[in-house]
Amino acid sequence: MLLVVSKMLILTCASLSGGQGKTTVAILLGRMLAQTGQRVLMIDADPQANLTFYLGHEVQQNQPTLLEVLKKTDKY
Ligand SMILES: Nc1ncnc2c1ncn2[C@@H]1O[C@H](COP(=O)(O)OP(=O)(O)O)[C@@H](O)[C@H]1O
Ligand SMILES: [Mg+2]
Repeated sequence: MLLVVSKMLILTCASLSGGQGKTTVAILLGRMLAQTGQRVLMIDADPQANLTFYLGHEVQQNQPTLLEVLKKTDKY
């Protein structure tokens, strides 16, 4: 999906099934855009957090997923 808001470009890699290359496309595209000087924010909405891991961040077991934060569950 491609959405242009003012000068900000929003790209989404989404698929209901796994193993389709979403994470691969996201990290390669993000890094390519960053290398051209674009400011890039990557948001990992996948509870598996592979993109987060590939970017060098550890995810602790007690950390909520993005969905849980947005739903404001009482779990955390
Ligand atoms: N264009 C491609 N050609 C070959 N293998 C690919 C390609 N894109 C992704 N892969 C491989 O396919 C697997 C699944 O990719 P991944 O990006 O993790 O999928 P998803 O995020 O949709 O679950 C990974 O092992 C990845 O290295
Ligand atoms: Mg993935």
